[in-house]
Amino acid sequence: MELIFATNNLHKLHEVREKLKSCGDELSTPIRIISLSEIGFHNDIPETGTTLQENALIKAQTIFDFYNQNCFADDTGLEIEALNGEPSVYSARYAGEHCSFDDNINLVLSKMQGKTNRKACFKTVIALILNGNTHYFEGRVDGEIITEKHGVEGFGYDPIFRPDGYSQTFAELALEEKNQISHRGRAMDQLVAFLHRLHSAQSGV
Ligand code: IMP
Repeated sequence: MELIFATNNLHKLHEVREKLKSCGDELSTPIRIISLSEIGFHNDIPETGTTLQENALIKAQTIFDFYNQNCFADDTGLEIEALNGEPSVYSARYAGEHCSFDDNINLVLSKMQGKTNRKACFKTVIALILNGNTHYFEGRVDGEIITEKHGVEGFGYDPIFRPDGYSQTFAELALEEKNQISHRGRAMDQLVAFLHRLHSAQSGV
Protein backbone atom coordinates (compact mmCIF):
# COMPACT_ATOMS: atom_id res chain seq x y z
CA MET A 1 0.00 0.00 0.00
CA GLU A 2 1.15 3.53 -0.72
CA LEU A 3 0.80 6.38 1.78
CA ILE A 4 1.83 9.98 1.19
CA PHE A 5 3.60 11.43 4.22
CA ALA A 6 2.55 15.09 4.34
CA THR A 7 5.75 16.63 5.64
CA ASN A 8 8.51 18.85 4.28
CA ASN A 9 10.70 17.80 7.21
CA LEU A 10 13.29 15.40 5.78
CA HIS A 11 14.29 14.23 9.27
CA LYS A 12 10.75 13.06 9.96
CA LEU A 13 10.60 11.39 6.55
CA HIS A 14 13.81 9.48 7.22
CA GLU A 15 12.69 8.44 10.73
CA VAL A 16 9.34 7.17 9.51
CA ARG A 17 10.85 5.22 6.61
CA GLU A 18 13.39 3.60 8.95
CA LYS A 19 10.65 2.84 11.46
CA LEU A 20 8.60 1.03 8.84
CA LYS A 21 11.64 -1.02 7.84
CA SER A 22 11.99 -2.18 11.44
CA CYS A 23 8.24 -2.99 11.57
CA GLY A 24 8.58 -5.15 8.45
CA ASP A 25 7.57 -8.41 10.16
CA GLU A 26 4.45 -6.89 11.74
CA LEU A 27 3.11 -5.62 8.44
CA SER A 28 0.74 -7.92 6.63
CA THR A 29 0.98 -5.63 3.62
CA PRO A 30 4.12 -3.55 2.91
CA ILE A 31 3.72 0.23 3.20
CA ARG A 32 5.54 2.46 0.74
CA ILE A 33 5.94 6.02 1.95
CA ILE A 34 5.66 8.66 -0.78
CA SER A 35 7.26 12.02 0.02
CA LEU A 36 5.85 15.42 -0.93
CA SER A 37 8.81 16.08 -3.24
CA GLU A 38 8.10 12.81 -5.07
CA ILE A 39 4.59 14.05 -5.91
CA GLY A 40 5.85 17.56 -6.72
CA PHE A 41 4.27 19.36 -3.76
CA HIS A 42 6.66 22.07 -2.57
CA ASN A 43 4.37 24.53 -0.78
CA ASP A 44 4.50 25.26 2.92
CA ILE A 45 1.32 24.19 4.72
CA PRO A 46 0.46 26.83 7.35
CA GLU A 47 -0.01 25.25 10.77
CA THR A 48 -2.85 27.44 11.99
CA GLY A 49 -4.33 25.00 14.53
CA THR A 50 -4.09 25.40 18.29
CA THR A 51 -3.60 21.70 19.06
CA LEU A 52 -1.34 18.96 17.71
CA GLN A 53 -4.43 17.11 16.48
CA GLU A 54 -5.71 20.14 14.53
CA ASN A 55 -2.34 20.76 12.90
CA ALA A 56 -1.85 17.10 11.99
CA LEU A 57 -5.28 17.12 10.35
CA ILE A 58 -4.64 20.42 8.51
CA LYS A 59 -1.48 18.96 6.92
CA ALA A 60 -3.04 15.59 6.00
CA GLN A 61 -6.28 17.20 4.75
CA THR A 62 -4.40 19.68 2.54
CA ILE A 63 -2.64 16.84 0.74
CA PHE A 64 -5.77 14.71 0.56
CA ASP A 65 -7.71 17.62 -0.98
CA PHE A 66 -4.97 18.10 -3.63
CA TYR A 67 -4.33 14.48 -4.57
CA ASN A 68 -7.28 12.44 -3.25
CA GLN A 69 -4.84 9.77 -2.11
CA ASN A 70 -4.30 8.00 1.20
CA CYS A 71 -1.97 10.11 3.31
CA PHE A 72 -0.91 10.99 6.83
CA ALA A 73 0.80 13.81 8.72
CA ASP A 74 2.40 14.17 12.11
CA ASP A 75 2.43 17.12 14.44
CA THR A 76 4.79 17.10 17.38
CA GLY A 77 5.29 19.24 20.46
CA LEU A 78 7.76 19.40 23.32
CA GLU A 79 6.05 20.12 26.65
CA ILE A 80 8.19 21.36 29.53
CA GLU A 81 6.64 21.26 33.01
CA ALA A 82 8.57 24.24 34.44
CA LEU A 83 7.51 26.36 31.43
CA ASN A 84 3.80 25.61 31.93
CA GLY A 85 3.83 23.12 29.07
CA GLU A 86 5.58 25.38 26.53
CA PRO A 87 6.53 25.28 23.68
CA SER A 88 3.98 22.55 22.80
CA VAL A 89 2.16 23.27 19.55
CA TYR A 90 4.54 26.21 18.94
CA SER A 91 7.68 24.04 19.12
CA ALA A 92 8.75 24.74 15.52
CA ARG A 93 8.65 28.53 15.87
CA TYR A 94 9.28 29.01 19.60
CA ALA A 95 12.08 31.54 18.96
CA GLY A 96 10.13 33.22 16.14
CA GLU A 97 9.12 32.59 12.52
CA HIS A 98 11.92 31.06 10.41
CA CYS A 99 14.09 30.39 13.48
CA SER A 100 16.63 27.56 13.49
CA PHE A 101 16.71 24.45 15.69
CA ASP A 102 19.59 26.10 17.58
CA ASP A 103 17.58 29.30 18.16
CA ASN A 104 14.81 27.22 19.74
CA ILE A 105 17.25 25.20 21.85
CA ASN A 106 18.99 28.36 23.09
CA LEU A 107 15.66 29.91 24.08
CA VAL A 108 14.64 26.78 26.01
CA LEU A 109 18.04 26.61 27.75
CA SER A 110 17.87 30.26 28.76
CA LYS A 111 14.30 29.94 30.08
CA MET A 112 15.32 26.79 31.99
CA GLN A 113 18.29 28.43 33.71
CA GLY A 114 18.09 27.82 37.46
CA LYS A 115 15.02 25.53 37.19
CA THR A 116 15.29 22.37 39.26
CA ASN A 117 12.22 20.70 37.72
CA ARG A 118 13.57 19.59 34.32
CA LYS A 119 10.69 17.22 33.42
CA ALA A 120 9.46 17.31 29.83
CA CYS A 121 7.76 15.14 27.27
CA PHE A 122 7.42 14.92 23.51
CA LYS A 123 3.96 14.24 22.11
CA THR A 124 3.12 13.29 18.53
CA VAL A 125 -0.30 13.09 16.95
CA ILE A 126 -0.61 11.42 13.55
CA ALA A 127 -3.67 12.04 11.39
CA LEU A 128 -4.20 9.32 8.78
CA ILE A 129 -6.72 9.83 5.99
CA LEU A 130 -7.51 6.43 4.58
CA ASN A 131 -10.20 6.03 1.92
CA GLY A 132 -11.55 9.44 2.98
CA ASN A 133 -11.85 8.54 6.69
CA THR A 134 -9.65 10.16 9.35
CA HIS A 135 -7.92 8.20 12.12
CA TYR A 136 -5.65 9.55 14.87
CA PHE A 137 -2.67 7.91 16.60
CA GLU A 138 -0.69 9.31 19.51
CA GLY A 139 2.73 8.71 20.96
CA ARG A 140 4.50 10.17 23.99
CA VAL A 141 7.91 9.89 25.61
CA ASP A 142 8.86 11.35 29.00
CA GLY A 143 12.27 12.67 29.91
CA GLU A 144 14.29 15.67 31.04
CA ILE A 145 15.76 18.84 29.57
CA ILE A 146 19.50 18.82 30.24
CA THR A 147 21.54 21.99 30.75
CA GLU A 148 23.63 21.91 27.55
CA LYS A 149 23.56 20.29 24.12
CA HIS A 150 24.80 16.73 23.77
CA GLY A 151 25.04 14.72 20.56
CA VAL A 152 24.73 15.41 16.85
CA GLU A 153 22.14 12.88 15.65
CA GLY A 154 18.45 13.57 15.12
CA PHE A 155 17.02 17.07 14.83
CA GLY A 156 15.07 19.78 16.64
CA TYR A 157 15.31 19.58 20.41
CA ASP A 158 17.00 16.13 20.39
CA PRO A 159 20.38 17.41 21.77
CA ILE A 160 18.75 18.68 25.00
CA PHE A 161 16.17 15.92 25.60
CA ARG A 162 17.20 12.87 27.62
CA PRO A 163 14.49 10.18 27.71
CA ASP A 164 13.76 8.58 31.11
CA GLY A 165 15.87 5.49 31.74
CA TYR A 166 18.70 6.65 29.45
CA SER A 167 21.97 8.43 30.12
CA GLN A 168 22.14 9.82 26.56
CA THR A 169 20.05 12.43 24.78
CA PHE A 170 18.05 11.55 21.67
CA ALA A 171 20.88 13.17 19.69
CA GLU A 172 23.33 10.63 21.14
CA LEU A 173 21.18 7.59 20.37
CA ALA A 174 21.23 5.68 17.10
CA LEU A 175 18.08 6.31 15.06
CA GLU A 176 16.93 2.72 15.60
CA GLU A 177 17.06 3.26 19.38
CA LYS A 178 15.27 6.62 19.19
CA ASN A 179 12.60 5.10 16.96
CA GLN A 180 11.91 2.31 19.47
CA ILE A 181 10.98 4.66 22.31
CA SER A 182 10.23 8.04 20.77
CA HIS A 183 6.90 9.88 20.55
CA ARG A 184 6.89 9.48 16.75
CA GLY A 185 8.05 5.85 16.87
CA ARG A 186 5.24 5.02 19.31
CA ALA A 187 2.59 6.82 17.25
CA MET A 188 3.84 4.90 14.19
CA ASP A 189 3.53 1.63 16.17
CA GLN A 190 -0.18 2.47 16.63
CA LEU A 191 -0.62 3.29 12.95
CA VAL A 192 1.07 0.05 11.90
CA ALA A 193 -1.04 -2.00 14.33
CA PHE A 194 -4.20 -0.33 12.98
CA LEU A 195 -3.31 -1.09 9.35
CA HIS A 196 -2.40 -4.64 10.31
CA ARG A 197 -5.80 -5.17 12.01
CA LEU A 198 -7.60 -3.65 9.05
CA HIS A 199 -5.77 -5.79 6.52
CA SER A 200 -6.31 -8.95 8.60
CA ALA A 201 -10.04 -8.20 8.89
CA GLN A 202 -10.34 -7.54 5.14
CA SER A 203 -8.45 -10.68 4.17
CA GLY A 204 -10.36 -12.76 6.76
CA VAL A 205 -7.16 -13.90 8.53
P1 IMP B 1 6.12 19.95 13.69
O1 IMP B 1 5.48 18.67 14.08
O2 IMP B 1 6.66 19.89 12.30
O3 IMP B 1 5.26 21.15 13.94
O4 IMP B 1 7.41 20.06 14.60
C1 IMP B 1 7.57 20.97 15.59
C2 IMP B 1 8.99 21.13 16.02
O5 IMP B 1 9.22 20.22 17.06
C3 IMP B 1 10.08 20.84 14.99
O6 IMP B 1 10.42 21.96 14.25
C4 IMP B 1 11.23 20.42 15.87
O7 IMP B 1 11.90 21.55 16.34
C5 IMP B 1 10.52 19.77 17.02
N1 IMP B 1 10.48 18.30 16.86
C6 IMP B 1 9.56 17.55 16.21
N2 IMP B 1 9.88 16.25 16.30
C7 IMP B 1 11.03 16.21 17.01
C8 IMP B 1 11.86 15.13 17.41
O8 IMP B 1 11.62 13.94 17.12
N3 IMP B 1 12.94 15.46 18.15
C9 IMP B 1 13.25 16.75 18.49
N4 IMP B 1 12.51 17.79 18.11
C10 IMP B 1 11.40 17.51 17.38
